[in-house]
Amino acid sequence: MPAITATAPGKVILFGEHAVVYGRPAIAVPVQSVRARAVVMADIHGPSGRIHIQAPDINLEADYDQLPLDHPLRVTIHLLLSELGVKKPPACRLRVSSTIPIASGMGSGAAITIASIRGITAFLGTSLLDERVSAITYEVEKLYHGTPSGIDNTVIAYQQPVYFQKKSQGNRIEVLPVGKPFQLIIGDTGIPSSTAKAVGDLRVAWQQDKATYERLFDQVGEIVDRARQLIERGETDKLGELMNENHVLLQKLGVSSEELDRLVEAARQSGAAGAKLSGAGRGGNMVALPPPGRIAQVASGLKKAGAVRLVETSVA
Ligand code: PMV
Repeated sequence: MPAITATAPGKVILFGEHAVVYGRPAIAVPVQSVRARAVVMADIHGPSGRIHIQAPDINLEADYDQLPLDHPLRVTIHLLLSELGVKKPPACRLRVSSTIPIASGMGSGAAITIASIRGITAFLGTSLLDERVSAITYEVEKLYHGTPSGIDNTVIAYQQPVYFQKKSQGNRIEVLPVGKPFQLIIGDTGIPSSTAKAVGDLRVAWQQDKATYERLFDQVGEIVDRARQLIERGETDKLGELMNENHVLLQKLGVSSEELDRLVEAARQSGAAGAKLSGAGRGGNMVALPPPGRIAQVASGLKKAGAVRLVETSVA
């Protein structure tokens, strides 16, 4: 049996991070140019039930059931096998790797989970709906940060731009039609971003002054709805202004940083129509919207301002 390869893209949140944890909508898009990859092959000499994992990027090599009980790959495989009703899969090797930068808000954890789920599912000769792939990944995401909104697993499982809103009874997930394709440049501050810490700190601040934070979340939600209309109508030239407005609100929420603000400002100075931090903040990534023809200029402005990595992607 030939090896099976499955991949999953990275992601970037375009509008609405953090407020999405509090029930406001958000928009995220897949980043196809960086990907997690899972290769699954039969191990004809291995005992049934054994799944041997190799993850050279993180120096990991072990059978999945020898990993700590809360290891994301162990939890992923455990949840997947029970979802599929498989007690002892034929022995196999699962090799995972990724070109998605870690701890930078590009969804590397969710993408590794999703590539692994799809690889093992295909190896077992079956398939799962995107919705189920996303649901299993959500359970694994909870290990990384206690109260994830679910937007990361959703956009990566669906591999399409999504408008997402967390609901107590079934999340609102709408695939966004894109009226006119546009380019984004994602710039990395090089400073690791801890989603759990940023989300946790914001929760403490919210608990102390709910009225202020709820108002800010409402303003973010309004921006998301306006952005959605512009994206659908193909009026992307007006999107930059909304990114700028969203960034100001993220600053007020206390999740920006000097480095993020510097890159955001540099992107605008070098011609971007708008820019904002993306994801949990404090470090990690920002995202800029360069008008057509200005991509190289914005990229060079970001590099000069200290971006350690740039990823370009087109939203279509
Ligand atoms: O994991 P990141 O860095 O993309 O951030 C997730 C976005 C947050 O809104 C801050 C948290 C969440 O669960 O939606």
